[in-house]
Amino acid sequence: MQLTQKNINNSNLLLKVNNLSVFFNTPEGNIQVVKDANFSLNKGECLGVVGESGSGKTQTFFSITGLLSSNGYCKGSAIFKGFDLITSSEEEKRRYLGKSIGFIFQDPMTSLTPHMKIGKQLSEIAIFHEKLSSKLAMERSLEVLDIVKMPKSRDLINSYPHELSGGMKQRIMIAISLMCRPELIIADEPTTALDVTTQSEILSIFNDLKSNMNIGIILISHNIGVIAETSDNVAVMKNGLIVENGSTFNVLTNPKDEYTKHLLSCIPPWLEK
Ligand SMILES: Nc1ncnc2c1ncn2[C@@H]1O[C@H](COP(=O)(O)OP(=O)(O)OP(=O)(O)O)[C@@H](O)[C@H]1O
Ligand SMILES: [Mg+2]
Repeated sequence: MQLTQKNINNSNLLLKVNNLSVFFNTPEGNIQVVKDANFSLNKGECLGVVGESGSGKTQTFFSITGLLSSNGYCKGSAIFKGFDLITSSEEEKRRYLGKSIGFIFQDPMTSLTPHMKIGKQLSEIAIFHEKLSSKLAMERSLEVLDIVKMPKSRDLINSYPHELSGGMKQRIMIAISLMCRPELIIADEPTTALDVTTQSEILSIFNDLKSNMNIGIILISHNIGVIAETSDNVAVMKNGLIVENGSTFNVLTNPKDEYTKHLLSCIPPWLEK
């Protein structure tokens, strides 16, 4: 009760998720893959969501953003700026999704359209959502490419996705999510396929987005080391349950749950600070 009151009075609160559960109807029966999840995110902060494969990380955020498969449904609430993303109509949701909330999908390699130049992929978003002219949309594309530190962005807008490295594609995915000036970005395993140096560069972009632009970030990863570099708070998921949730410092230095302890024991000693 005290916690709820605190959050109501917190003007920095961006997202508050209460008792979120996700279910799928399958030929074998009804299964629950997310169980009563509770967490919140402030503006300009990063919540890291960590857990093993199949623990429910992606479906938690698919349910909030209306992306569940047709055999899935959810219960609970996800209040974004005072507006419940779970119970609202499709039309109301469209006002937020893709604009105020950007989603970076788990596989950047398949999220880009192969036959379309990067500049066009970026600018089409602003033309569609913000009704910008082609010229202004292209200017905005160059702006966001600067934010994600893409060198020679004027050459890049004429490139096709297959001409880019994995790290560059991931920067483009972040740039796409920035086109409509989002307040929340959900990034699902944004560094998984990248080498350690590129991974670090991408994480530093997320750090800049929260510090310089006050964007709230949800960073999903199976790698607790990645979470440690960027997140203010962390939620640890196992079998659809959030088994531990708290400040990254507390969870990492004084883990309470056995599964969190196990995850931490998997970090090689030379990566520990
Ligand atoms: N359409 C569906 N029908 C039935 N079960 C599904 C469906 N989509 C996902 N699931 C199940 O939901 C559970 C949670 O999946 P989810 O994608 O959230 O895992 P995850 O934690 O993101 O894993 P990963 O790290 O591999 O991406 C898994 O057991 C998955 O098989
Ligand atoms: Mg996933």
